[in-house]
Amino acid sequence: MSTSPAACWRVAAGGGVAGTLTVPGDKSISHRALMLGALAAGDTHISGFLDGEDCLATARALQALGVRIERPAATEVLLHGAGVHGLAAPAAPLDLGNAGTAMRLMMGVLAPQRFDSTLVGDESLMRRPMERVAVPLQMMGARIQMHQGRPPVQIRGTPHLRGIHYSLPVASAQVKSAVLLAGLAASGRTRVSEAVPSRDHTERMLGAFGVQLLYEGRTLALEGGQSLRGTTLQVPADFSSAAFFLVAGCLAAEQPLLLTNIGVNPTRTGLLELLQRMGADIRVHPRIASDAPRAEPVADIEVRRAALRGITVPEALVPAAIDELPVFFVAAACASGETLVRGAAELRVKESDRLAAMAAGLAVLGVEHQLLPDGLWVRGAEALRGGALESCGDHRIAMAFAVAALRARAPLEIADVANVATSFPGFVSTARRAGLHIEAL
Ligand code: S3P
Repeated sequence: MSTSPAACWRVAAGGGVAGTLTVPGDKSISHRALMLGALAAGDTHISGFLDGEDCLATARALQALGVRIERPAATEVLLHGAGVHGLAAPAAPLDLGNAGTAMRLMMGVLAPQRFDSTLVGDESLMRRPMERVAVPLQMMGARIQMHQGRPPVQIRGTPHLRGIHYSLPVASAQVKSAVLLAGLAASGRTRVSEAVPSRDHTERMLGAFGVQLLYEGRTLALEGGQSLRGTTLQVPADFSSAAFFLVAGCLAAEQPLLLTNIGVNPTRTGLLELLQRMGADIRVHPRIASDAPRAEPVADIEVRRAALRGITVPEALVPAAIDELPVFFVAAACASGETLVRGAAELRVKESDRLAAMAAGLAVLGVEHQLLPDGLWVRGAEALRGGALESCGDHRIAMAFAVAALRARAPLEIADVANVATSFPGFVSTARRAGLHIEAL
């Protein structure tokens, strides 16, 4: 991966963080902006785009489907939409790299096409479950084959999908989004119900492209056959990337640390609530809201060091904090008392088994903990040990451990960090600017 070739980081122990920072564009929103822009009629202009490997994999896949994409700058994209029925058969399997969101949402885009396609990815993605998306799409009439529920995903396109009413068995924005995307090209009405809300970027963005969505209580409905109109989109900075600095600030910001222009969609900001329950000093300063209906909310977030106390995490808050739990466990490791997270079995099927990866790291850091089938129990420690940590090729595990160095007694060496470029290109320089003593080896 060209943007972050480093295989390993060395992070000096201790130190502080302060200053004003921003982080790259939101990954979830950047993927969706590309896909909806491709399905729209007319041009879509995206600014604040995440120039990271995951979103670039989506862009390449769309180009292989005949979509014209220009990049006037690294964070700007101009898409010449092909329309819901305007994609072309790809010449080869589409390689989505490390990007689970790209593969799952593209299944919804590709199932109703008049051509066949095959989706593959890197070693991590080839191990991840895709059946959860295939099941509702098959109920709609899609023809999809996998290898024991995992990629390669082979799609025999059919333009004859039918709307269904699907109740999500697990909170998953990726499954919800794939069903909605397929629903655009299906006959009749597609309905999706979720017991606990998952991130709603797809719904918000469909509105920006002129698609009518109906809300029937907790059920979301969309009439098939609608067209999308190209639009202009501003992607906010990624709360999930800001999360590393929010926790860093709680642990080591003697002077305030200000994170600017951060997306604060309430389906994403569970970490804020968890840290505040632990006693964090975090202030959210909302930016003037855009007048577009259901636009993504954005804020500047200010954080100062505070003494954190362990908590029991309410299971209902887990979906809104799912990608931030690795760094949340670092906060728990530095808090006084015990922290318990349950209801987070989904972490076992992310880019790595994040519960196992964090438990292994906590052992190296000398933090008492217990790995549970669906969570982790942690007893906070006064200071962490130094040592060699394994990120398991998982970007969020690597960055979470880098934050842990702020409370370590000896340096940390974090292996296998190249995939940080999937979500946070420039992490090392941003972390240095914040005050971490981090070096790519
Ligand atoms: C995402 C949804 C979440 C999240 C992932 C991005 C999305 O996954 O963990 O990083 O952009 O829709 P699930 O749908 O599996 O919850």
